[in-house]
Amino acid sequence: MEYIDLRSDTVTQPTPEMREAMAEAEVGDDVYRDDPTVNRLEDLAAEMLGKEAALFVPSGTMGNLIALLVHCHRGNEVIVGNQSHIYLNEAGGMAALGGIQACPIQNQPDGTLALEEILVSIRTEDVHHPITRLICLENTQNICGGVPLTPEYTRQVGELAHGNNLALHIDGARIFNAAAAQNVSVKELVAPADSIMFCLSKGLAAPIGSMLVGTRDFIRRGRHIRKMLGGGMRQVGVIAAAGIISLEKMTKRLNDDHARAKKMADGLRKVNGLVVDANSPYTNMVYLNLSQDVPLNAQQVTEKMKNLGVLVDPENARRFRLVTHYWIDDEAVKKTVSAFQEALN
Ligand SMILES: Cc1ncc(COP(=O)(O)O)c(C=O)c1O
Repeated sequence: MEYIDLRSDTVTQPTPEMREAMAEAEVGDDVYRDDPTVNRLEDLAAEMLGKEAALFVPSGTMGNLIALLVHCHRGNEVIVGNQSHIYLNEAGGMAALGGIQACPIQNQPDGTLALEEILVSIRTEDVHHPITRLICLENTQNICGGVPLTPEYTRQVGELAHGNNLALHIDGARIFNAAAAQNVSVKELVAPADSIMFCLSKGLAAPIGSMLVGTRDFIRRGRHIRKMLGGGMRQVGVIAAAGIISLEKMTKRLNDDHARAKKMADGLRKVNGLVVDANSPYTNMVYLNLSQDVPLNAQQVTEKMKNLGVLVDPENARRFRLVTHYWIDDEAVKKTVSAFQEALN
């Protein structure tokens, strides 16, 4: 059975055009900087984000970790959202591998960190305190609903960071979704940040890879740490070739995914037993709960949905996140709504 897979945008298969480009990619040993396709991808990423340089990394997790290791020394502190991927879902890498301490503060429902809260969380100079070095934002903020942070808010956090001698890193795994949803350029959205990680392997449909972007010096140091972490790759142009198509083509179609997520949410709002979050979706993620009167839990509904040809991922015992992406077309949206109707009947 061919499934409709809404578990994440990470499940996207490379497009036929990507597979062709991968097969034909010109390659070299990227540790020697000899891979022309990787070099082209890195130049393109830096150019599109309006920064000096970029580094191709195997995963978003490694990209974020490299950023933290470049910005911070052991014993430093990083201000992060308590609902952020860096804090919750990167296996404690900053602590385990960097000796870096997280200072988690609450993500507001709109995905932001309150400016006043950031300000009071910055440590004062005191022999007892860790030194605060970095603020991390996540855009789009996944757990808060795939909500995009605005350029204005990002500018305010940038000013606050730089006014206090801190750096600003953006976990922009889905930064192109954030830009598309707000009809702003990604350059404008990341202008206040010192470093940005974004993923090619999510809504942009590449099979592997993320980019870390920043100043030339930051990327030079990041390249060294990537090697230390075992992330120096060889003829990796075969993958970078897909990433170039992600940047040149897939970044331009993300509002199709957002429109389909909206259609899906509108349909699901009419299904008895489902309560779609009030403002969902903001981008390509629909968040919903089972209503109290549904006798099944999310795992049981997940199994029924699978039997009906739709893969979903429960967030907890009553909650789901459904993610649209390149391989979810209008027909898949319709079938998903019907499958939920049948599963809850
Ligand atoms: C917001 C966010 N940041 C970072 C990552 C990490 O990316 P990767 O899975 O490539 O390590 C993810 C992955 O889902 C994510 O959702």
